[in-house]
Parts: sequence; C-alpha cells; structure tokens
Amino acid sequence: MNLIIDEETAVSPETGNACSLENYLALPDHSMDERIAKARERLGASTILLGHHYQRDEVIRFADFTGDSYKLSKIAAETEADFIVFCGVHFMAESADVLGRDGQQVILPDLNAGCSMADMAEISQVEACWEALTRLHLSDEIVPITYMNSTAAIKAFCGERGGLVCTSSNCRAAFEWAFARGKRILFLPDQHLGRNTGFAMGIKLEQMAVWDPWGLQGGQSASTLADSRIVLWKGHCAVHQRFLPSHVDEIRAKHPGVQVIVHPECRWEVCQKADALGSTERLIKIVEEAPAGTTFAVGTEIHLVNRLARRFAAEGKRVLSLDDHGCLCTTMYRISPQHLAWALENLVEGRVVNRIKVRASVKHWARVALDRMLEIG
Ligand code: 13P
Ligand code: SF4
Repeated sequence: MNLIIDEETAVSPETGNACSLENYLALPDHSMDERIAKARERLGASTILLGHHYQRDEVIRFADFTGDSYKLSKIAAETEADFIVFCGVHFMAESADVLGRDGQQVILPDLNAGCSMADMAEISQVEACWEALTRLHLSDEIVPITYMNSTAAIKAFCGERGGLVCTSSNCRAAFEWAFARGKRILFLPDQHLGRNTGFAMGIKLEQMAVWDPWGLQGGQSASTLADSRIVLWKGHCAVHQRFLPSHVDEIRAKHPGVQVIVHPECRWEVCQKADALGSTERLIKIVEEAPAGTTFAVGTEIHLVNRLARRFAAEGKRVLSLDDHGCLCTTMYRISPQHLAWALENLVEGRVVNRIKVRASVKHWARVALDRMLEIG
C-alpha cells in the first residue's frame, strides 16, 4: 500500500501482513533491547542504522553511525546497504533517499517524526515568495539556499534555480559559494542560522530582511528587499528558541569560567554571548578536545547534552544544559525502541514498513542541490 502524505514523498506505511505496531507499543522500552539486537544481527550488512545525535539513548545505542545532518547525509550517499533505517526526522530520511543509489530503501521507524521548523516553509509559499521577488526584478540576482531542515520539494526548488542545500556545519561555505554567484541570498527556512552566519561574515543586521510568508510581499517594502544582502525566511526551531541571553548571564555568574557553546539555530543575542557555535557534531568535538576540568554550558537538545555530561564526567569535564529545564525535541523523541523493533523485525520478515520515497520528479533537482552541498564539504 502506498500512502501519499505530501506532494513529493510517497510513503508505504506497511506492506503485506506487517506485524502490528500496537503489539509493540504496549510493551516496555527495555523489553525491546534483545529483539532489536537480534533483528539487527539477522539483517547483517544489508541494513545500516543511522542515528542523529538528538535520538534517545535507548535507540541511538543501536546505530551503526551517529552524526549531525551533514555527516549522516554523506554516509547515506556512500553506503552499499540495501536498507537505511533512519533514526532521525523526516527531512533526514528524505535526503537519504535522494542521495541513495537506485534500489536502496529508506525507512523512518515513525512517520510522525517530523520537524516543526521544516513545516514552517511550504513549497507553495516559497514559489509565491520567488514570484514576488521576480516582480521586483530581484530574483536574477538571488541565490536560494535551503537548510537541510526542509522538504525535498524546497531542496529541488533551490537546485533548479542555481542554489543549494546547507547544514549547520557548512552554512558559511554555502553562503560564500552563493555570493560568488549572486548579489544576495534567499535563505530558507531558519532565520536564526541565516542571521548568525551572515553576521559572522560581516553582513549587518539591517542588510538582512525577514520574509514573512503570511505577510503581503513578505511584510517588506520593495526598497528594503532591494537593499538586503540576505532575505531570511521567517522560520525557527522551537527547541533552540528556548535558550535566552539571560541564561548565558546566569550561568556565567554561577559558574565562572564556564564555556558556553550553542547550536547556531539559537537566536542571535544568545550566539553573540556564547564562546562558540557549532553543529551537533562540532559541539561534541569541542567538548572532546577540551582539557580536563573544563565546565561547559551547552545550548542544544537535552538528549545530546545529557549524553555529553555522562560521557565526559569520568574525564573530569562538566557538561550542563544552558537552560536548567533542558529542551526536548519531541519529534526526534518519537523514534522509540518499540518503533525501531517493529521496523527491523518486519524487515527480517521481508516487509518494508514506513518507507520514505521521494518522487522522481522532485528527486533530480533535490539531488543537484544536495550534491552541490556535498561538493563544498
Ligand atoms: P545538526 O545538523 O547540527 O545535527 O542539526 C540538525 C538539527 O535539526 C538541529 O536542530
Ligand atoms: Fe527540527 Fe528543532 Fe527538532 Fe532540529 S531540534 S529536528 S530543527 S524541531
């Protein structure tokens, strides 16, 4: 059975007589461990399990590879495995399908694992924005860049118009690539990553106009758009917006000498006060490379922060959450051990559940945009 959940992606939730998910959901987390391990063993080299750093401990421990969005997309592009089980969110699985070779199949254990930021830009809104910029005679000079956290249709839109995809680890390189080819950038959908990157390159805040997809002409005057170097889509990550500049002040007062490291999806005011910014992979590296005795306050998703705290305690490094309460990505959390066991045991039985498959018409240009990203590294 094929269920179409959006314009560009076909998903087959179940094929054949798949084991019922309900039977798994009724069981406790820990009872899945042995079953996952056994299924994993039986699948052998045919299957690769990718885990994003925000995944729960009970799930990520089974990953063959862990990483940030960039690293995982690179692995997906290179693996010989027939099946890629993606423990992450929808846009990551879509990108793996675009980058994978013909015949490879990508599985997302829970189809509800989306990304609220990616949902803030719909392809029809992006097309309307482009038409408005064209009416103002600006589109010829604009290179569209989309953050990995977007639909395959938006990636294809950027690829077809001479643009590319970037992640938090190569956003600056993507901006440099774009400025070598055009006068300005349309950046989708995370205004914060775009602003932080532009500012670090010397672009003034007033040269970055925010495009509100719900406003008339993006809520901007023609002259503001014409004077801008970057047009920032009005999108954000709710998880990272919870970190505030006051959290940085408070933690510095409480822990003198603390190193504040944050993800660039955090607001500009927080990033300005931080000691370093980085993708999830980069944040881990910073802690790894620090001398014993260092205390860190980390501004990113709580599962990663807690894992860092446990892993580095023995080395005498202290890792705290920048926000006392910790911020959870509820969609990443959707991938449970039960969903993983369900997907793997079905695969053992020869049934592919929750396949993520990008339409051929979208795939070509999305691949162009992703390949350009992989080329800049
Ligand atoms: P990374 O590419 O840094 O892992 O970020 C992905 C993401 O969704 C952060 O919210
Ligand atoms: Fe999306 Fe934010 Fe979750 Fe990352 S942390 S997947 S940007 S909602």
